[in-house]
Amino acid sequence: MRKRVGILTGGGDCPGLNAVIRGVVKAAIIKHDWEVIGIEDGFDGLLISEKCRRLVLEDVRGILPRGGTILGTTNRGNPFSYPVEKNGITEYVDISDSVVARIKEMGIDSLIVVGGDGSLKIALELMYKGIPVVGVPKTIDNDLMETDVTFGYNTALETATDALDKLHTTAESHHRVMIMEVMGRYAGWIALESGIAGGADVILIPEIPFDMKRICEAVEDRRRRGSRFSIIVAAEGAFPKGGKRVVKTEASESHSLERLGGVGEYVSRELADCLDMDVRVTVLGHLQRGGSPSTFDRCLGSRFGVKAIELIEQHDFGRMVCLKGRSIRSVAIEKAVRKLKLVDPDGEMVRCAEELGIMLGR
Ligand code: F6P
Repeated sequence: MRKRVGILTGGGDCPGLNAVIRGVVKAAIIKHDWEVIGIEDGFDGLLISEKCRRLVLEDVRGILPRGGTILGTTNRGNPFSYPVEKNGITEYVDISDSVVARIKEMGIDSLIVVGGDGSLKIALELMYKGIPVVGVPKTIDNDLMETDVTFGYNTALETATDALDKLHTTAESHHRVMIMEVMGRYAGWIALESGIAGGADVILIPEIPFDMKRICEAVEDRRRRGSRFSIIVAAEGAFPKGGKRVVKTEASESHSLERLGGVGEYVSRELADCLDMDVRVTVLGHLQRGGSPSTFDRCLGSRFGVKAIELIEQHDFGRMVCLKGRSIRSVAIEKAVRKLKLVDPDGEMVRCAEELGIMLGR
């Protein structure tokens, strides 16, 4: 019997997903003559037969430079806690048995889940129910453990650094404080690396609660030394000492996670109280998730896709492909989802930023 591999992309999209899909389809067909079933819109697609289709080489032609995912995705639809309307009330039920049955009915003998922490945890649960799974780590936040880097992160960094370069020239011309808010719910990697690369003066990350007084002093100091503008990069999850993250929309029945956003405006309002300078805020938002993947992300995504097929060939299930140094390896999904990879407040990169004269809010 010909092997049949299923692939789905879950959670927020990111550049490089199509490179993974292409890598999987090409390696499965060219090397092994296996069949690949593309499942649309994350785990949701497993419930609806029209959302599961065979992927052939033509389907992945020309998709390397394309952002997003040709399979679609969603950051809802957990089969272990699935929203069902009953008499106008939403209840959360475990429909994982139906999902497992559907996977078997379709003759899918192994499932590749491309996702972040949330999707990989669901993949693990499915494995406990007997589905052979392989995980591929994805997130622009780069907060997954056990891989040096996730694909999508590099492209997001390029977008953020490019935006900082642009903000610099207008900040300098108008003698303003420019605040740029970037993604990074729990981890400040995007803010920290783009801030270093883009020559920021202040970087605020969730791992280091910030002190507004110190930020004002840093901007004032610069002004005294003759720099009449300042650039502040703030991760959306950054928060003041003793305070809370700035939430746009609370978690709800339809959204298990609160929507963050607004820390830039918060810092701007606070600065207005202590500084006599014009302040402007730019929120990069989903621009960081979109667009054509960088060379690095196309290559990493392709290598991850090919490695996922190799793991299936070796019957090495419950594993997540990963990058260690310059090599593609694999680790137990269980190990990868135990905790998030956060910035070490006393680590080399933070120290480097501080030694470059960047203020980290403390
Ligand atoms: O998970 C990556 C991420 O970029 C987070 O930093 C951010 O909080 C989240 O996605 C926003 O996702 P969405 O707007 O799609 O719910």
